[in-house]
Amino acid sequence: MKVPISSSSNRKSSSTSRLSPYLLFGLLAFIVFVVVTIYGEDFRCLFFTQQPTATSNKLQPPLQLQLPADPVHHHNKPPPHHDLPSVPITKTEKDDDMRHKVVGETRTRKTDHQDEVVGVGGSAGCDVFSGKWVRDESNRPLYEESECPYIQPQLTCQEHGRPDKEYQLWRWHPHGCSLPSFNATLMLEKLRGKRMMFVGDSLNRGQYVSMVCLLHRLIPDHAKSMQTFESLTVFRAEEYNATIEFYWAPFLLESNSDNAVIHRVTDRIVRKGSINKHGRHWEGVDILVFNTYLWWITGSKMKILRGSFDDERKDIIEMETEDAYRMAMKSMLKWVEKNVDPKKSRVFFTSMSPSHGRSVDWGDDRNGNCYNQTTPIEDPSYWGVGSRKSIMRVIGDVFSKSKVPITFLNITQLSEYRKDAHTSIYKKQWSPLTPEQLANPVSYADCTHWCLPGLQDTWNELLYAKLLYP
Ligand SMILES: *[C@@H]1O[C@H](CO)[C@@H](O)[C@H](O)[C@H]1NC(C)=O
Ligand SMILES: *[C@@H]1O[C@H](CO)[C@@H](O)[C@H](O)[C@H]1NC(C)=O
Ligand SMILES: *[C@@H]1O[C@H](CO)[C@@H](O)[C@H](O)[C@H]1NC(C)=O
Ligand SMILES: *[C@@H]1O[C@H](CO)[C@@H](O)[C@H](O)[C@H]1NC(C)=O
Repeated sequence: MKVPISSSSNRKSSSTSRLSPYLLFGLLAFIVFVVVTIYGEDFRCLFFTQQPTATSNKLQPPLQLQLPADPVHHHNKPPPHHDLPSVPITKTEKDDDMRHKVVGETRTRKTDHQDEVVGVGGSAGCDVFSGKWVRDESNRPLYEESECPYIQPQLTCQEHGRPDKEYQLWRWHPHGCSLPSFNATLMLEKLRGKRMMFVGDSLNRGQYVSMVCLLHRLIPDHAKSMQTFESLTVFRAEEYNATIEFYWAPFLLESNSDNAVIHRVTDRIVRKGSINKHGRHWEGVDILVFNTYLWWITGSKMKILRGSFDDERKDIIEMETEDAYRMAMKSMLKWVEKNVDPKKSRVFFTSMSPSHGRSVDWGDDRNGNCYNQTTPIEDPSYWGVGSRKSIMRVIGDVFSKSKVPITFLNITQLSEYRKDAHTSIYKKQWSPLTPEQLANPVSYADCTHWCLPGLQDTWNELLYAKLLYP
């Protein structure tokens, strides 16, 4: 993708009313890029036939959202060629602050310095979403790609030839406190007798799979399964009577992109006031994790349907993306208010996941993107053009006026730094690549989705911290 160098370094949010031709072109290129990556993800559904899981039965419906757990899948393949010699640590966490706050942990970390131990409720003083990435070879990754059979082949980067494993070795370190380490035993205990559900788009599905990968090792093969029923994928941990689920609803509201397999490619339409269409499938869930963003970014306007998709003459209006997004957020809050008992359940909302489609954004003036990137961005204020600040403002606005307790996972900034963590070209392709593409890997790199293990495990560590130590 050829993207012109934007004329100045100050990135204005897209609410600017007049766009320079350069910015406009860049924006268009970004949209094309997003369309290619998200539909690339969607098309592959058409080319896969799902295979039954070890414990699945004949009741599996024909429409399937996601590649299943097929424990044999990975083991049949030759081992991935990633056994690079380990690299000495080039960057370590500087323990130069004399005191550490340990969010939620009641034990003291064994360091030479005195740790400030913050118990339950003590994380208030520390913004866990503000911090830096530290390379930590001894504690990362939290699991191996090859030992988690639930990762879709769109996210198994090592299996698809990624030459480095650097992206797996970074740990998030908030300024002023430490994240509690992810304890899978404790998390499974928390889920005992409960349903946890991720609702949203393919990025939320990535986080869902990451959560399953973080936990499944503790469950013997005969006591776990993953099955897909149209829009719903369910991972079951029998001994815990617990499920971790994913529900496909890229706009949360009803839309013409809701089919779990075939989403319409152009001309997306969202129906106003339709949250119950999907919401009835979320009722009774104990831990809900919502996201929605990328599908709204079609250009400047969004088509909103009033009335029903079955109406012969459809009443469709165009709305500014921000207004349409605000409408959806409010619908979600209203749904939560009506259907969730805050004494029994928890609701999370994950902010937008950034893309890295143009390397000029981080000061690399070649016409590159996330392809061939192996290190995080170091500029603490880095923010790419793909993540609309105007949408972030809408989120802040809507949540600040809400009485409904929703825990906001503000993962955008910390993920902005991770240009190295995308699947890039190291994923199952939904159609054979052309010679032109092969000659120019940048042209088909997926700079939207993330390799697993990787960045999204950190989103779950943050979720874990907020869930167990609210
Ligand atoms: C994880 O949690 C379990 C259950 O509370 C506890 O027994 C175990 O010691 C914890 N593991 C670590 C490494 O802290
Ligand atoms: C299993 O969990 C569900 C909620 O997900 C609950 O309704 C049911 O009573 C539980 N069953 C047992 C045997 O604990
Ligand atoms: C990938 O990056 C390395 C190191 O930054 C560079 O030497 C190499 O030319 C790059 N390869 C391509 C195909 O861009
Ligand atoms: C999320 O974090 C970013 C960067 O730290 C910040 O600019 C933004 O205001 C936060 N969003 C909300 C809704 O608080």
